[in-house]
Amino acid sequence: MQTLTITKPDDFHLHLRDGAALASIIDHTAAQVARAIIMPNLKPPVVTTEMALEYRDRILAAVDEQYNFEPLMTLYLTDNTSAEDIKTAGENKSIHALKYYPAGATTNSDQGVTDFKKTYKALEAMMEQGLPLLVHGEVTDADVDIFDREAVFIDKVLTPLVKDFPDLKIVFEHITTRAGVDFVLSAKENISATITPQHILLNRNDLFKGGLRPHNYCLPILKVENDRQAVEAAAISGNPKFFLGTDSAPHERKHKETGCGCAGIFSAHIGIELYAEAFDAVGALDKLEAFASHYGADFYGLPRNQEKVTLIKEDLTIPETIAFGDSVLVPFRAGETCSWQLKK
Ligand code: DOR
Ligand code: ZN
Repeated sequence: MQTLTITKPDDFHLHLRDGAALASIIDHTAAQVARAIIMPNLKPPVVTTEMALEYRDRILAAVDEQYNFEPLMTLYLTDNTSAEDIKTAGENKSIHALKYYPAGATTNSDQGVTDFKKTYKALEAMMEQGLPLLVHGEVTDADVDIFDREAVFIDKVLTPLVKDFPDLKIVFEHITTRAGVDFVLSAKENISATITPQHILLNRNDLFKGGLRPHNYCLPILKVENDRQAVEAAAISGNPKFFLGTDSAPHERKHKETGCGCAGIFSAHIGIELYAEAFDAVGALDKLEAFASHYGADFYGLPRNQEKVTLIKEDLTIPETIAFGDSVLVPFRAGETCSWQLKK
C-alpha cells in the first residue's frame, strides 16, 4: 500500500458560513488542516476587525475540542473601507488579509467593490501594513462572456492596480485560466495565487456530463481543457507562488438543485485527498507537500506547521449527502470515490 507523510496542510481559501451551518461543517476542515483563511462573505459581510474577531470566536466555539484549528480571519473590502479600518486590522494579529469581491461577482458580493479606484486609500494603507489583498478576479460586466471574466479582469483591473501598488501583496484567488497563470508567473514575488481541487481535476465539460451538473458549478466557472492543463501545471510546478486554497463553499442541496442555483463546491471533506489524487495522476506527489503545507504559510509570513499527516492510497467512498445546518449539502464526488484518504 502506498502512503505519503507530509507536514499538516493549511487551506488558504475557505468558506465556513455561520450559525448552525458553520457548526455542522467546521470539523471537516479542522480534521484536515491546521489553519485556514476564512472568507468574509457572510450576510452581512465581515467588514470590521470587531466583526471578524466575533466571527473568529464563533468558529472556535464550533470546533470539536479534539482539533487544534486556527482560523485566519479576513475583512471584506468595500468602497468605504477607510485607512483607519486598515490600521486597526493591521494591528490585530488575528486579521491576515482583506478580500476584494467585485460587486455582484458571486455569493454575497453585493456590498463588494463597485470601482477599484474607490479602494485606493485602503490599498495604500494595506501596502504600508503589509496586509495582503485577496482578489476574486472576475469582471461583472453583463456583456463579458462568463468564460472570459478572469482574463478581462487581468487587463481591466489587476494590471492597472499592480502598476499603482507595485509592492502590495496580492493573492489572485482560485485561478482558472492560462492567462491567470501567466500573469502570476510574470509578476514580482509579492503576487501569488491559490488553486482549488476542482480547477485541477475538472474542465467545463464536467458541467454538462450526461446532463446539467449543478454541483460542479462554482465561480470562477470551470474552463476549457487548455486552461485546466495550465492550472494543473502551475500547481505541480514547485513554484512557491502557487499554493492550496480549496474554496470549499457549502450550499444547501435545495439551493443548488433549483431553477437558479448557487455557485460553490463543497470539498472540505476530502480537500487534501483530492489534491493528492490530482498530483498522483501526473506523477507529481513529490510536489504536494510544499504546495499544500509550505508555500502558503511562507507567503503569509506564518510559521510552517510542525505536525505531520499521512495519506494512504486507498479508495474512499464519499457519501451522497453531508449534514448542513438543519438540512444537507451534496459534497464533491458524492456517491463516488477518491483514490487517496487521510490516515485516521
Ligand atoms: O463558487 C463560489 N462560491 N465562488 C465564490 O466566489 C463564492 C463562493 C460562495 O461563497 O459560495
Ligand atoms: Zn471563495
